[in-house]
Amino acid sequence: MKPIRIALTKGRLEKDTVALFERMGMDTTQVKEKGRRLILPVPDPWTPVRSIEVVLAKAADVITYVEHGVCDLGVVGKDTIAESGGSFYEVLDLGFGRCRFALAAPKGSDFFSGYQARTVASKYPGVSRAYFERKGMDVEIIRIEGSVELAPLLGLSDAIVDIVETGSTLRENGLEVVEEIMPISARLIVNMACMKLRKSEIEDLIGAMEHQL
Ligand code: PRP
Repeated sequence: MKPIRIALTKGRLEKDTVALFERMGMDTTQVKEKGRRLILPVPDPWTPVRSIEVVLAKAADVITYVEHGVCDLGVVGKDTIAESGGSFYEVLDLGFGRCRFALAAPKGSDFFSGYQARTVASKYPGVSRAYFERKGMDVEIIRIEGSVELAPLLGLSDAIVDIVETGSTLRENGLEVVEEIMPISARLIVNMACMKLRKSEIEDLIGAMEHQL
């Protein structure tokens, strides 16, 4: 039988997921010694039917591979899900990769006062737009690819919408949280057709993962 294929977001979420597989008794040697390989088998010596194949991808691509059904499952942050959307089932909050979306601005600036037009920089324009729409505020959003904290420091924007984990990037750049927008953590997602076609195998794997969280 063909193994269940699971796309993991490279980096932190990959490491936390591999640690979870280890707690489940799976053999993660190949992922740990992957070199530059991107598709790795993760055998389960105790329950061979639960053996899987891991695919390492960028966060947004995890969603693409799962949506198209070339991967059955995916592990991706709620931040990427909130920004990209898509058609898949979000079945489990894995509890790791915890952080939050926040609106942040230079310390002491009063973002919400006054009537002047405001500009906000973000790697997450969709999340930012939805947040300001909920508030009924007309804000110009500028998309930035990384180190978004630079935008207000350089005078490009009044504030940023970004991920805050420890808060040290904000602190060390003279910024502070104005408002928290939404908590984030890693989620397990499933292709909609695979969920039907391989229901018992997928449910068994989800159950085993949930048991070790
Ligand atoms: C993320 C985020 C913040 C930082 C927050 O950036 O965009 O810059 O981490 O973490 P902290 O609250 O613990 O300081 P990342 O490291 O992913 O790099 P990027 O800004 O280049 O995307």
